[in-house]
Amino acid sequence: MDQLRDVACRLSEPGKGILASDESTGTIGKRLEKAGLNNTEDIRKAYREQFYTAGIGCSISGAILYKETLYQTSSQDVPFVDCLTRQAVLPGIKVDQGLVPVEGCEGESSTRGLDRLEADCKSYRQQGARFCKWRAALRIGIGTPSQKAIGINAQQLAQYAAVAQACDLVPVVEPEILIDGDHGIHRSSAVSQEVLQACIAQLWRHNVDLEATLLKPMMVMPGADAQSKASPEDVSCATLDALRRCVPPAVPGIMFLSGGLSEEEATVYLNSINKHAIEHNARHWALSFSFGRALQASVLKLWVAEREGKASPGKAKEMASAVAAANAAASLGRYQG
Ligand code: 13P
Repeated sequence: MDQLRDVACRLSEPGKGILASDESTGTIGKRLEKAGLNNTEDIRKAYREQFYTAGIGCSISGAILYKETLYQTSSQDVPFVDCLTRQAVLPGIKVDQGLVPVEGCEGESSTRGLDRLEADCKSYRQQGARFCKWRAALRIGIGTPSQKAIGINAQQLAQYAAVAQACDLVPVVEPEILIDGDHGIHRSSAVSQEVLQACIAQLWRHNVDLEATLLKPMMVMPGADAQSKASPEDVSCATLDALRRCVPPAVPGIMFLSGGLSEEEATVYLNSINKHAIEHNARHWALSFSFGRALQASVLKLWVAEREGKASPGKAKEMASAVAAANAAASLGRYQG
């Protein structure tokens, strides 16, 4: 367990965060196709190589890969796992198998993958993964998330975390509260607290070592279609209140997801959360990032431009390390904008 705790500490090292590049083949395909590219294995690999060879080690502590990527090698024939570890970036792996509907709960989901989890975790660990991620998604709406969906997802997250630790992988526990909807920040705050409490209670019940666990929640904010928007100060107050009330300081790191925020919004909110936490002496955990879209959107655009000869070679990699560095600064409350 000491080694697992050490990995969790390294992942939440001050001034670093996680690159979430574990989109399933379908999800990455949608982003590539939107950018005018085909969703082939070669293109997915070449795109991801931009990140893994960009020299991101000073801002990134870990990268979450999709299973296909964990076994791939770079154009120089270096395994991606080695490209990352050479930069002191720990390789991680998505181990859930995506969402499925919950019976009797219209529009709500649980997550698949527990049946083969142990076997998968063992092979991923052998392949060099040091941590893993399981995503649950909860939707705020009329009557949702239901008690049933909150309960099932919290239980699955804890079962997953226990298996991951038994297989020598640090679990990243992701109870995403989707940004979709027109709810205000108060509703989001109440739901976040209920979900976080349920998750922590289940982690306890399943004997999960909290010191060797990372949490990946959404920041507390109004729905994307809400009438009144929240300021970065509102988001940081609500987020820190929810975390202080529900998450023991034994958890070393809160690694936020970006959940559909723009790159700039995600960085500004993260910065504000850290500034607020420093000012109020409330930095009980590392407060950092495990962003997907908010670390990738500009890189994808530039990479497409490079392929079309509209941007000079190397620009996409420069952008990958610049965006990572901006978020690393935000994780210390030092982002200047
Ligand atoms: P986003 O930051 O794009 O939400 O992705 C993070 C992630 O890993 C979702 O599971």
